[in-house]
This record gives sequence, C-alpha cells and structure tokens, in this order.
Amino acid sequence: MQPQTDQRLAAEALDRIGRAALPEADATMAIDGRRYTCETALADEIAALFRQRPLPLAFGCEIAEPGDYLTLDIAGVPVLLIRDDDGTVRGLLNTCRHRGARLLDGAGRVGKAFACPYHNWAYDRCGVLRAQPASEHFPDIAVGEEALVRFPTEERDGFVWLLLDPAGTLDLDDALGELGPELAAYGLADYRHRGSHIWSKRMNWKLGVDTFLEYYHVPILHRASIGKTLFGTVFLYETCGRHARLVAPRRSILDQREDDPATWRVLPHATIVYRLFPNAVFISQGPHVELVRFFPDPARPDTTACRFSFASPSGDTSERDWEEMMRLALGVLDTEDFAVMEGVQANLAAGVQREIVFGRNEIGLQNFHRMRDAAMTG
Ligand code: FES
Ligand SMILES: [Fe+2]
Repeated sequence: MQPQTDQRLAAEALDRIGRAALPEADATMAIDGRRYTCETALADEIAALFRQRPLPLAFGCEIAEPGDYLTLDIAGVPVLLIRDDDGTVRGLLNTCRHRGARLLDGAGRVGKAFACPYHNWAYDRCGVLRAQPASEHFPDIAVGEEALVRFPTEERDGFVWLLLDPAGTLDLDDALGELGPELAAYGLADYRHRGSHIWSKRMNWKLGVDTFLEYYHVPILHRASIGKTLFGTVFLYETCGRHARLVAPRRSILDQREDDPATWRVLPHATIVYRLFPNAVFISQGPHVELVRFFPDPARPDTTACRFSFASPSGDTSERDWEEMMRLALGVLDTEDFAVMEGVQANLAAGVQREIVFGRNEIGLQNFHRMRDAAMTG
C-alpha cells in the first residue's frame, strides 16, 4: 500500500470509528442458495472464472530457489509451479507427456531434472523432456524438444499469477488495474515463506471467499479470538476494478489520534483484506501477510481445497514466533469461520430454505456476488 493511501485510510478509519459509521449498500440483497449447491452453476463458474482469468496462485517466496516447486489442482487441472534455472517461475501441466502420469506431489525442491514415477521420462525445470528410457521405441518424440504443457505464468511483485488456458494470453495489467501499484508497494519480493496449509472443506468455494467479506460476524463468532483486538464491526470498503479492499482497524489505531494527521498510518493497526477476483484473498496483518486461495472440486459444488500461505519480511529481526502466529490464524479459520461455512453448505443443500440475504452492512458480499454474476454473463 502506498503511503498516501495508508494515511488516507487511517484518517477514514478514525473518522468512521468516531461516528460508528459503516460503509453500506443501498439495499439488502436476496440470494438463491442454489448458487452454492448447483452442479451446473459450478461448471459455468469453472469455465468463465477459473479457466479464463488470471489466478493468483502463490507467493513467489513459496518457491524461492531454482528447483523449488509446488503442485495445485485448480478446478481439476493439475498444475506444477516450478522455478527454473534462471529464476523464472514456470506453470506446467503436472501430467507426463508419455501416458499422463502425475509427475510431482505436494511441494519441495527437485534437482536439474525430475523423473516421472511410471517409466522414468525425465524433464528439466522448464518442463523440457531430457531423458527417455529405451527412446528407440519413440522415434517421433524428440528428447530436448518435447515439453510439458505450459500455462501463461507471471511473477510480479511477489505474487505468481497463472492463466489456466495454455493458448491464452496473460494480461496482468488488465487483470490488476489500479490495484497493481498498491500490491507492489507491499514489497513482497523481499518476504520469506514461513509455512502453508491445505484443507479440503465441505463448502462451496464462494463460501470460503465470503468468510472474509464482512465484519458483522466478528464480535460474535470471533468473540474469544480476533474479536478482542478488532474494532467491533467497523471496517472500510473500496472496490478496485473486480477486486476489493476491506480494512478492519485494531484498537491500537487510536494511539495516534493526537499526532499530526499527516503521520497517521493504518497498515500497522489493521487487518487489510484484498479480495482478488475470482477466488483468493491476500491479507496484510501488519507484521506478516497471508494468501488464501479456494479451488473447487469440479465434480462437487460442496467440496473445496483451501490453500493458506504465510510470509513475513526476510529482514525482520523481531524474533516473533511466526509458527505460533500461523497456528493461531489457521485455528480461527478452521474452527470458527470454515466450521460455520460447512454448516451453511449442508443447510443450503437440504434445499428447504431457498433464499439467504446479504445486509446493507454486508456490502463486500453483495459486491463480490455481483462481480461473479457479471463475469459469468460478460
Ligand atoms: S507416464 Fe510418465 S514415463 Fe510413462
Ligand atoms: Fe471470520
């Protein structure tokens, strides 16, 4: 976040706290619960959102060194992110050119080449075929030329983006719009990955995103955890193209009230959530950042892989207990937010109550679902 935005949002936060004024939509918004349970809706979302738009897949520091890799299943498509010998992040199909075996699992580091577990075809870190046992039986498959399917992939300002269409063009300037410089100002290229966690949850992928888009629930659901440090339900909300920013100030923001307004800052005193369209949230917590991505199971509207990653500045000398901070963050999401969302999913699947409602104070939810609808039809 740029300093002028930081100061402007601090002033707005102090003003809203003083007036107890929330950003509000003009009206409530009724939603048909089937958008979370319908198989056709999910297939349409995968086609329109997941296969046609740049997806923020990872922090670059999750694969910091040449040979570092991680694997993701994106709406059924197995993807391998790997840093090549030159330091460029490659997005490859995690599927062997021979007969389609899965090449790598989880995350880790490979040497100059990695081999398929089935018949030992080996690929370099760019995905080019480098070795092939008994190659005389494959006279038309050229070692050094054949390669794994490549997806358009770009690392920018500490984020790795990928387009799930091998023939498509990744236009990040267009996808990020005005949010680009704000994300760049975080300087994530100098951050260090402290850990990741993956859950499989019985909830629609949008319920995962919804979790982050309102603060109405914070004093209730999180009363024993993060509810103690945040300012009740007060938050700031702005859209940035298809994306959005929510700022939830912590009580410590009041400490600077008597200072020169030109020096006011929100970054050290707030949880700042960026909803990155379509399926991710980037969260600044002050000393550290988090990236949460939601990937639907293409066969099940009620099943989602949630990948959480945690990073902090490389040069931080505070000796904070990052492991403990990550454990706390995971605990809140798992046992509080996602636990409720799995219940919501089951209740909507029962199909008796068809409609749910987003309040005027749930403007972030209203906006996300309108963006989703617009992207599906446009
Ligand atoms: S499927 Fe990979 S080497 Fe045969
Ligand atoms: Fe929450």
